[in-house]
Amino acid sequence: MRLRFLYIAFICFFSQSFSQNYEAKVDSLMRLMTLQEKIGQTVMYSGHWDQTGPFVSTDNGKYIREGNMGAMLNAMSVKGTRDLQKIAVEETRLGIPLLFGYDVIHGHRTIFPINLGLSASWDLQMIEKSSRIAAEEASAEGIHWTFAPMIDVSRDPRWGRISEGAGEDVFLNNEIAKAYVKGFQGDDLSQPNTVLACAKHYVAYGAAQAGRDYHTTNMGEGELRNVYLPPFKAAIDAGVETFMSAFNELNGVPTSGNKFTLRDILKDEWNFKGLVVSDYTSINEMIQHGFAADSIDAARIGMNAGVDMDMMGHVYRLHLKKLVEENKVSEAFINDACKRILMAKFKLGLFDDPYRYSDEEREIKTAYQSEFLTEAREIAAASSVLLQNKNDALPLSKTSKTIAFIGPLVKDEYNIIGNWAAKGDRDGKAVSVFEGVSEYLKPKQILYAKGCDILKADTSGFEEAIRVSKQATEIVLVMGEDYHMSGEAASRTDLKIPGVQPELIKKIREANPNKKITLVIMNGRPLNLSEEVNLVDAILEVWFPGTMGGAATADLLFGEVNPSGKLTVTFPRNVGQVPIYYNMKNTGRPIPESNPKEDYKSNYIDIENTPLFAFGHGLSYTKFNYSDLKLSSNKLTFSNTIDAQVEVSNTGSKDGYEIVQLYIHDKVGSVTRPVKELKGFQKIYLKKGETKTVTFTVSVEDLKFYNSDMVYGVETGEFEIAIAPSSEFKFESSFTLIDQ
Ligand code: BGC
Repeated sequence: MRLRFLYIAFICFFSQSFSQNYEAKVDSLMRLMTLQEKIGQTVMYSGHWDQTGPFVSTDNGKYIREGNMGAMLNAMSVKGTRDLQKIAVEETRLGIPLLFGYDVIHGHRTIFPINLGLSASWDLQMIEKSSRIAAEEASAEGIHWTFAPMIDVSRDPRWGRISEGAGEDVFLNNEIAKAYVKGFQGDDLSQPNTVLACAKHYVAYGAAQAGRDYHTTNMGEGELRNVYLPPFKAAIDAGVETFMSAFNELNGVPTSGNKFTLRDILKDEWNFKGLVVSDYTSINEMIQHGFAADSIDAARIGMNAGVDMDMMGHVYRLHLKKLVEENKVSEAFINDACKRILMAKFKLGLFDDPYRYSDEEREIKTAYQSEFLTEAREIAAASSVLLQNKNDALPLSKTSKTIAFIGPLVKDEYNIIGNWAAKGDRDGKAVSVFEGVSEYLKPKQILYAKGCDILKADTSGFEEAIRVSKQATEIVLVMGEDYHMSGEAASRTDLKIPGVQPELIKKIREANPNKKITLVIMNGRPLNLSEEVNLVDAILEVWFPGTMGGAATADLLFGEVNPSGKLTVTFPRNVGQVPIYYNMKNTGRPIPESNPKEDYKSNYIDIENTPLFAFGHGLSYTKFNYSDLKLSSNKLTFSNTIDAQVEVSNTGSKDGYEIVQLYIHDKVGSVTRPVKELKGFQKIYLKKGETKTVTFTVSVEDLKFYNSDMVYGVETGEFEIAIAPSSEFKFESSFTLIDQ
């Protein structure tokens, strides 16, 4: 005990003295800085637009020389960043190094599945690994800072940026946020293979009205605190160094000018000490929002609200000095912003050596290392979700006489790495599904037809596709969205598979009424597959699976890897159900199970309330059976915990992973509570025939929420509990929280 105490005291002393040390250094540096030089640190500008030389353009070179730039985005490569850094270090009065930031979102060179796909692995170690590899590759190219992770909870598949997040659930988003941050930042930021992470987009960006990007968000503070803020707090708990303020307005106040969320919550309540960068011109956009009169006003509002760095807007560079002189912005805010930015540079070790990320040898050998590709293949397979497998259509047999691979994405090496694919190569580096299946089949077993394009309304390839399908023993369709259809500014009102692809699916089924048909689907959002579920036997959701996506898909198709991914977002039956998510409220008129269509109940007259595929759903080539849920006690107190355990058996004929999920329902609250909430999960491996006892420990911490007075706490009473393979289950067990 004594030893442990001494150890903790030692660690605290040293970590404190390290950061105090930086602070002292920053303070003494800042004593030398003029107001305009401090403002210069708050300016971020682009590294590769308007360029005249390799990276140094007339504009950015000038701003750096004048001491009017603290950070750059989109500048990379060892040579490019070194050239720019050299100007900052050698040609400015104080030689303060620049920070180089870039969107490294789901991989840098080696691309992993899009983030929504990564979340479907429910595998925190894998997610951390993916961001660790991304950090290795990005930092080797001179990058210090990634604008990731995006941890916007989103429940609207119309919103294209749902692809960049971890889905609809708060608990899962929290855990995944921590994993990304750990992977990017590593254990020691002063190591040159780590990058600063950035929690974005703060906040509630994922709740854009009607799923339209950049649109208004409106919600009560309870919803904000219970659903949209927690992943950001989790990122802070994991040590995230930076935040990005978002584009959207929240309850009438743009989030890049929102004192309540930025200063009151983030900087005061949560005591966040890192830096806040605006999203791309989001400070300026307060003019269009109708919140700032002009760019001077926008600069004033942004800085006063707590945005430390202006990405691309030039409003801080141009106006802050005057605003301070006119007492419209306090100099203390500029000092605070500058200090946060300089602290980040100290933590990265840039004051010890501004060129520590400029190692040519490392740059050459880091990208696409074979172990990175191996990881990417495993992670892509773990991220795919087997949505349906009628008639055991999958796995395919390696000895099939012929398999027809049909669709615009069979040979694709371009869309497969998805949106926000950083420096991922779209010209031949990625493994297509065609290449992947060629590892398993001989050329004469493979038939191929493209059939159609993703988007063009051209059916001229149908005839050949149908002919090819008729020749085959089995059929695999590889279809989906174009990668531009998700990500930023890619909202859709129609969630169907785009173009004439659905028509081709119908035609192929008509021509082959008795053959097994599998649909491999690549997409960046939940799609409406209501028709396809009846036309094909199996559906394998691979998202945009990344550089090794085709190989991973083949591993799953042929059963070399048993699917284990589960949905982190609900798939609706049609767009009219949106937003639909598993943890909705009950309403005062929930539908009776015996008659879901009963009048004057909360239902639709034209469709069921249930989704097509629920949150947590995902099949395997084996079967798992859950039985014998036991609670160690049916009374929980404020000081004890209870164990909930269940027996999970692999009753099928293959070994496999299962994602076991813990759900709780607070039956009565001072504010209404969701019908169920994920509170834990475990990914377990079971050999065929094996049974494991899975235990979750529940404490009052798991039951806390913000009440109507915005007090975070628990309320006594009855809680239902279940351990289940997906969110589709009925509670059969409960415990009571008593005030002891
Ligand atoms: C996006 C951010 C991104 C930034 C920099 C913006 O348009 O909203 O997510 O980090 O650009 O590229």
